[in-house]
Amino acid sequence: MPSHHKKLIIANWKMAPNTLAEAGQILDSVDEYLGSLNEKEISLVFCPSFVFLEEVGKILKTSHLEHQASLGAQDIFWEDAGADTGEVSGPMLNKLGVKYVIIGHSERRWKLGESDEVVNKKLKAVLRNEMVPIVCVGERVRNDNFKEFLKEQVEKTFAGLSQDDLGKCIIAYEPVWAISSNPDAHPDAPDSALESIGIIKKTLLANGHLLMANLYLYGGSVTSKNVTDFIQQQEIDGVLVGGASVNKEEFVKILSLIK
Ligand code: PGA
Repeated sequence: MPSHHKKLIIANWKMAPNTLAEAGQILDSVDEYLGSLNEKEISLVFCPSFVFLEEVGKILKTSHLEHQASLGAQDIFWEDAGADTGEVSGPMLNKLGVKYVIIGHSERRWKLGESDEVVNKKLKAVLRNEMVPIVCVGERVRNDNFKEFLKEQVEKTFAGLSQDDLGKCIIAYEPVWAISSNPDAHPDAPDSALESIGIIKKTLLANGHLLMANLYLYGGSVTSKNVTDFIQQQEIDGVLVGGASVNKEEFVKILSLIK
């Protein structure tokens, strides 16, 4: 688990890059950057596609990456065993050295129809298999009802979790309208991100969770142009970077802006 004063940067590579060679180049660039620093207050998690997990995991055990980067997966199946064509189980991920798993990403919720109930089952699978869930929540549109929407999504996503388990979760607030894969994406402003993080915390408290989630991240078209605005907020413990994390120059630039 990263210590709390370090900013946490999650690289969600989504369905990219196409080859392991390109993945290696991104990691080389980050490694070189980390090597140029004396000390850096960041922890990194790389979440490649399932097909590259094993090899990326090996690279992350080398050089400067070894002390600052961990392996993450982009999804999990909710059962640990069974006849489930195409799915990947928690025990499989854990054995590969995966430490973090992204759950409830908006692309899975909206493009693949994952309900809050499915996300909740996957969240429990991550915890059961002793990995750290990175739970994505966020409203689809910021209209008059967005607070109600967010509240309901948070309640259903975290339903039935013990205080202890909630304390193990990382919550990524990702407004769907600000995510680069959305054709109408427009960048969020820190103020509205802070308002939403406030709503998420209040909802969890109202549901009897006195202990809060471990860390709160912001994700939604984070680039070198806006990362500083978000990361300098005390309430934001890190960022989840999608599209920009597979562009090695841009990603290193983002890292260089994190103080
Ligand atoms: P983006 O994606 O940075 O490409 O907008 C963020 C995410 O949803 O992971």
